[in-house]
Amino acid sequence: MTKTVLVVGAGVSGLAAVKHCLDEGMEPICFEKDTDVGGLWNYHKWSKDGDPSLYNSCSINTSKEMTCYSDFPIPKEFPNFMGHKHFKKYLQLYADNFNLRKHINFSHSVDNVKKADDFDKTGSWVTVVKNLESGKSRKLRTNYVIVCNGHLHIPHMPTMAGLDKFKGKVMHTHDYKDFRGFEGKRILVVGIGNSGSDVACELSRHAEHVYMSSRRGTYVIQRAADHGVPFDHLALNRFSMKLPWTLMRPMFFHRLNRRYNHANYGLSPNKRFDASALTISDDLPNRILLGTINIKCNVKEFTTDGAKFEDGTELKNIDVVILATGFNFDFPILDDDIIKVDGHFPYLYELVFPTNLNPCTLGVVGLVQPFGALPPILEMQARCITRVFSGKCELPSASQRLELVEKRKAFITRNFIDSPRYSLQIYSIQYMDRLASMIGCKPDLLKYFFSDPKLWYKIYFGPATPTQWRLNGPGAWKGAKRAIETVKEHTYFPMKTRRSGDGEMEGLYDGWIQLFKKTCFVVFILLFVRYLYVNGFVKSFVKSA
Ligand SMILES: Cc1cc2nc3c(=O)[nH]c(=O)nc-3n(C[C@H](O)[C@H](O)[C@H](O)COP(=O)(O)OP(=O)(O)OC[C@H]3O[C@@H](n4cnc5c(N)ncnc54)[C@H](O)[C@@H]3O)c2cc1C
Ligand SMILES: *[C@@H]1O[C@H](CO)[C@@H](O)[C@H](O)[C@H]1NC(C)=O
Repeated sequence: MTKTVLVVGAGVSGLAAVKHCLDEGMEPICFEKDTDVGGLWNYHKWSKDGDPSLYNSCSINTSKEMTCYSDFPIPKEFPNFMGHKHFKKYLQLYADNFNLRKHINFSHSVDNVKKADDFDKTGSWVTVVKNLESGKSRKLRTNYVIVCNGHLHIPHMPTMAGLDKFKGKVMHTHDYKDFRGFEGKRILVVGIGNSGSDVACELSRHAEHVYMSSRRGTYVIQRAADHGVPFDHLALNRFSMKLPWTLMRPMFFHRLNRRYNHANYGLSPNKRFDASALTISDDLPNRILLGTINIKCNVKEFTTDGAKFEDGTELKNIDVVILATGFNFDFPILDDDIIKVDGHFPYLYELVFPTNLNPCTLGVVGLVQPFGALPPILEMQARCITRVFSGKCELPSASQRLELVEKRKAFITRNFIDSPRYSLQIYSIQYMDRLASMIGCKPDLLKYFFSDPKLWYKIYFGPATPTQWRLNGPGAWKGAKRAIETVKEHTYFPMKTRRSGDGEMEGLYDGWIQLFKKTCFVVFILLFVRYLYVNGFVKSFVKSA
């Protein structure tokens, strides 16, 4: 009999889960509160507590070649850092291409998922779902459960001294849609992450003034890196992953401060450079340079019309406080004993499989914080879960899982502060490779080194695109090699809208500059040798030899 799998949610995670259940010959039964696929990317003009919500100017912060599902590239005519409309369109294309819609029940909310009475024997689950149109609830029994309810929709509201005294408007970025209603206001944004920076930059074009308060500071990177290459094409590759971090840290540090010195802009983090302290914003440094945004330090306490800061300064006449303080995750549909959560730390093996379920017939997709794009990682989690459920891939025992999770927890407690952002932190390529090894789809580099050196070079030194994990093993995709070869072409395609004469001048100047650089190098060497000679180093060296 075909095994049934309950899938909760039809966002990026849920779609991947449904698709891979089908790939493994299981029957997915997906429920989605909303009326279409896309989750967060299914933009609405309103925001609702407990539902994902997006601001209208949001565009993805990782490039399309790195953000796609691994066997379904984003159309080459789509922009690299597309707005939410394009990204939703892509998710719709994915759903239609793999015929996923017929397995998704829209306008249905999963109210709770409980172990069946015979769970110890069968591992089955009983779910209560409600049809949001008719208001009727029903029960459903399935063999497996994949939880894809998203983890960036419960605003984290820190307790901040005096905030209840503040007379102006207080809101979270979750509920920010666009600049309307903020014209001419004096605004304080608390937090300097991705959303905080986006919102502050947009508002700084319309408000009277915008202040941002940051406890720890941040390094800001632009979407376009040197030579206009999308930053993640350079940042995420296997070669630099292999280099020791002690060597990489100062190099990154140097590069990040080359465009402008973060300390001069009030941004410099007061802790060691780490990938997790990065914010992606093209605008922020410019808005600071233009004087429309000023950075302040941590808020000590709020007053009736402003805030006092830890450095003794004070701001008055603030109209709006926007909290860009991130999100908390939660599993409201599950009993507490299914996934143990300690503070901000979930007891999930590889952030996917609960440690205390036996048999392990439930998995979580989407609860992860990488530096880099999420969709390919969520897809890999879904691939891994469905391989395990279909019995083709083995999981460590419950006690082994617990041991590994405790180890990870100790590591995180030692190295990071206690926040969801850090407890869910992973390094993309290493994590993908670990899950891929379980499945058997890790790219076989040694094989390509001998059989296809060109491809090997691209995999090793080029951007670690999701398609790398579709070259071999279960789920291999014919188009993977071609997709890896055409990354550059697809990246620049949507921008090649002016055909005539493009690039001729650049070629000319480039040649001259290369020649100049080489000449300088040769002259330098000659001068150095002459210096040694004049000072007698050469003679004494020859003598002593
Ligand atoms: C402002 C913002 C910008 C972001 N930008 C990027 C980016 O540029 N690049 C990137 O890679 N990631 C980005 N992310 C991360 C983003 O969360 C992921 O890209 C992705 O959308 C996560 O997908 P998901 O399916 O796990 O969750 P979601 O998109 O949140 O989808 C969860 C779905 O589950 C449904 N659901 C939840 N509970 C139930 C229930 N009980 N019953 C039925 N349905 C339910 C919800 O309605 C929703 O549709 C951003 C996040 C935010 C908040
Ligand atoms: C992109 O933005 C989202 C939402 O703010 C964030 O979670 C993610 O880490 C960002 N991506 C990168 C590579 O910083």
